Amino acid sequence: MQTCLVDASKQNIEQAARLLKAGQLVAIPTETVYGLAANALDNTAVRAIFKAKGRPQDNPLISHIASMDMMTQVVCEISPAAHQLAQQFWPGPLTMILPKAEGVADAVCAGLQTASVRMPSHPVALAVIKAAGVPLAAPSANLSGSPSPTTAQDVFADLKDRIPMILDGGSCDVGVESTVISLVQETPMLLRPGYITKEQLEQALQCEILMSDAVLHALQKDEVAASPGMKYKHYAPKAHITIVQGSFAAYQKYVKDKDAFCLCFEEDACKLQNPCVVYGSEKDANSQANRLFSALRELDARGAKYVYARCPKQEGVALAVYNRLLRAAAYRLVNLNG
Ligand code: TXA
Ligand code: MG
Repeated sequence: MQTCLVDASKQNIEQAARLLKAGQLVAIPTETVYGLAANALDNTAVRAIFKAKGRPQDNPLISHIASMDMMTQVVCEISPAAHQLAQQFWPGPLTMILPKAEGVADAVCAGLQTASVRMPSHPVALAVIKAAGVPLAAPSANLSGSPSPTTAQDVFADLKDRIPMILDGGSCDVGVESTVISLVQETPMLLRPGYITKEQLEQALQCEILMSDAVLHALQKDEVAASPGMKYKHYAPKAHITIVQGSFAAYQKYVKDKDAFCLCFEEDACKLQNPCVVYGSEKDANSQANRLFSALRELDARGAKYVYARCPKQEGVALAVYNRLLRAAAYRLVNLNG
């Protein structure tokens, strides 16, 4: 199958909607990362997503909606907490898990009784959903296990010849996937950190929320994941990455005689002798989120074998960056603090 990579013009958005209504797949831009979309009410179409990505069958998908009316096609029992979060953060990079609605395709929920839903803020994503007239199931548009795509060219590199169409909407603003919160147990639980922070969610709900262990730790053998996606290897470039915790001075000394790449902040690069790939500014977690996945892809493109990464903070938006980097590094961490 030939893949057309086209700009997100009005005509191309209409063509995308026609393909989606006919059960085909289209990669679309969102404000977080590019998504690989199919009609969430069409089981055969959704199954094609798993095939194109090589995604494990037991990993459920997020359904994307363009209006609150569409929400009931995906989930039911929309609690006051869900209404509150929708009002405050939608359209935007927040995904909520709620009991699933009847009509949502089985393949979307991967056998669970819950479904996940989000209203993206990217104008192209919203326009495609509206034109298709159905909720769109869409995981990140990468091959399963590789870094999420933040440009249409990243999608093309992974899914060329596997899908008919990629809509190019430029590079993604946020750069890491949406925050995922589960609202199906008594106390809400953060399953995946993102641009909407735990602190913002607690402020909005006026209560403390739990954080899944899988955010910061590898699951133990036989441990059941609250979110199936968390048990898989993720975001892994070909390079062997190790995260280095500690001051810049300690890092500089540690990498000095190593034949390895540095994955560092932009302030660091001029002070290091190693080849460097930068991911944002030490002072600006949003810029780190925005750059992380493209930096991981750049390391591969430059043939990096061993990489030492500066460590992001573990709060606010930086927690999302830390969570993704930890998986990219298969949890390898060196602590140079005291
Ligand atoms: O920003 C995003 O969320 C992007 C864009 C395209 O919207 N999408 C995305 O989808 O990151 P994906 O499939 O790569 O990640 C969805 C995550 C997975 O970890 C999955 O296991 C979890 O959400 N998830 C989905 N439905 C779930 C459910 N019912 N219960 C628990 N976890 C769920
Ligand atoms: Mg993904």
